[in-house]
Amino acid sequence: INCVTFPHPDVMPEQQLLKPSEWSYCDYFWADKKDSQGNNTVSGFEILLQKQLKGKQMQKEMAEFVRERIKIEEEYAKNLSKLSQNSLAAQEEGTLGEAWAQLKKSLADEAEVHLKFSSKVNSSSFCKDFCP
Ligand SMILES: *[C@@H]1O[C@H](CO)[C@@H](O)[C@H](O)[C@H]1NC(C)=O
Ligand SMILES: *[C@@H]1O[C@H](CO)[C@@H](O)[C@H](O)[C@H]1NC(C)=O
Ligand SMILES: *[C@@H]1O[C@H](CO)[C@@H](O)[C@H](O)[C@H]1NC(C)=O
Repeated sequence: INCVTFPHPDVMPEQQLLKPSEWSYCDYFWADKKDSQGNNTVSGFEILLQKQLKGKQMQKEMAEFVRERIKIEEEYAKNLSKLSQNSLAAQEEGTLGEAWAQLKKSLADEAEVHLKFSSKVNSSSFCKDFCP
């Protein structure tokens, strides 16, 4: 009767409910039980199944999120790198020329940091299951 084991009614008495005073998954794991209004309640199995499916969807969405994050980081790095190669004031001498050179060098350095970050996330074990 509690759908965990099925003793034949002719040879065995009905199995006792483990929690007779309440509705419990101990007694109703596989089967739906009708409630007092005659509506089916959801079985424990169904609830586990839904949770499992939801977990899959969740994982897909997390994968998409991580992929987006990596893409942004890569794009940002590319943009910085491109800007650092700007030839503006390349011929400039003296303090201004130095300042420009320094600025472009720091852009290039920053681009490298962002690129490293994106490839680190991409190759991390966190990413292993779902990154492209
Ligand atoms: C039981 O089912 C009826 C008909 O579908 C519905 O109107 C009612 O709200 C349900 N009762 C509960 C407690 O869900
Ligand atoms: C990179 O540059 C492009 C073109 O200028 C721009 O559309 C894009 O939003 C930039 N992306 C980032 C992450 O900065
Ligand atoms: C992650 O690395 C793989 C190669 O290991 C590459 O094909 C893919 O484009 C990278 N993904 C992103 C979002 O950078």
